[in-house]
Amino acid sequence: MSAPPVLGVDDTPAFRLSPYTFVSERARELGTDVFDTRLLLRPTTCMTGPEAARVFYGERRLVRHGAAPRRLLLTLFGRGGVQSLDGEAHAVRKAMFMSLMTPQERERMRELAGEAWRERIGRWSRMPRVNLFDEVSELLCEVACAWTGVRLDRGSIPHATARLLAMIEAPAAVGPRHLRGRRARVQAEKGIAELVRRVRERPERFAGTPLQAVALHRDADGAPLDPRVAAVEVLNLLRPIVAVGRFVTLAALALHANPHCHERISSGDDAYLEYFVQEVRRFYPFFPMVAAKVAEPFEWNGHHFPKGRRVLLDLHGIDHDPRVWEGPEEFRPERFGTWDGGAFDLVPQGGGDHHRGHRCAGEWLTVDLMKVAVTALTRWMSYGVLPEQDLSIPRWRAPALPASGFVIDRVIPAE
Ligand code: HEM
Repeated sequence: MSAPPVLGVDDTPAFRLSPYTFVSERARELGTDVFDTRLLLRPTTCMTGPEAARVFYGERRLVRHGAAPRRLLLTLFGRGGVQSLDGEAHAVRKAMFMSLMTPQERERMRELAGEAWRERIGRWSRMPRVNLFDEVSELLCEVACAWTGVRLDRGSIPHATARLLAMIEAPAAVGPRHLRGRRARVQAEKGIAELVRRVRERPERFAGTPLQAVALHRDADGAPLDPRVAAVEVLNLLRPIVAVGRFVTLAALALHANPHCHERISSGDDAYLEYFVQEVRRFYPFFPMVAAKVAEPFEWNGHHFPKGRRVLLDLHGIDHDPRVWEGPEEFRPERFGTWDGGAFDLVPQGGGDHHRGHRCAGEWLTVDLMKVAVTALTRWMSYGVLPEQDLSIPRWRAPALPASGFVIDRVIPAE
């Protein structure tokens, strides 16, 4: 069935109410994987399903420059970063990110995270209550700084964590929460740009660190990055590492809701640990979608994509597409025992190829950090029956999180 023409009504209020299901529900109603609407006052084409993901990440008919809304650039992304680049400029910048994702760097990250978890578990055992989200966000901020080579004293970690969280929460927020994110980005970029200048003066002091790699990186034109843009890219490492704290909190919620998973992982089943982490990434909401812009007009599925049109790909909807996932609303880690690792069906961090396209550069690190976290929660510590709290996940808030942040008490380190 061909999709209806762009509607006159702006759908932003409906989208804000249900950012995770807006596209898939409308698509189901219309009986199509692609439809036009108006969002944030702009004509917008929404796509869902694995075939749509293939088109979205396929030939270069869609570009990123000018696709992201301004409110996203001023908070989550920053200006001039890898997310907004295309073609050769993107390939060269992305190669810099992917050069940091070697097996050695992943191992270094796992070790840093393991040490940080063991240290925190000791501290938690002396605290009456622990808000897991708050604590894990700080833990990951410490790990992110240690891994990238950004030297912060321990006293500065809570403030740095708050800034990074503000950037993550701001894009979909309105009012003070949005403004906090903008301010946080301006201040963080300023401080890190200064640090980049210092690295360039004495690069040997930062040898082998991701911070040095960014500071000394040369773009496709052979020029080093403007310090402000380098700061955006350093933040593209620090910020999402802290964002993994949301997945860790959701993993704790999943362990609570599925005690058999807790049991199986704590007994040492490492294959199941992997399936569990993948199912957390598939099942729980994080970023609802990604945006691109039509560079060359094309047709797909009987639908015309005019030049300049903003296109949204429904990440959460694809992770819950019943054509791909049997019983998508059930939490079933076992399903990953037979998953073929398709590049267009499990897309919480984008789809396609990590090196050639815009798929998340830190996807492997995310899985690593989640595995360390779930190992820590199940094998390195125990905690009491959960205290009374609101574990519901407000679905209008993106990225999502249990309302209470997941509070635990009576933490005991394992022998
Ligand atoms: C891109 C999600 C963790 C670095 C992305 C994209 C998504 C995403 C949806 C956009 C894909 C697209 O545009 O098609 C997430 C989630 C994370 C996470 C949900 C975990 C909570 C990380 C980590 C790092 C990272 C740990 C690095 C340490 C990046 C970078 C890009 C990116 C550099 C831009 C890639 C490009 O434009 O080519 N991520 N990410 N992310 N992510 Fe992540």
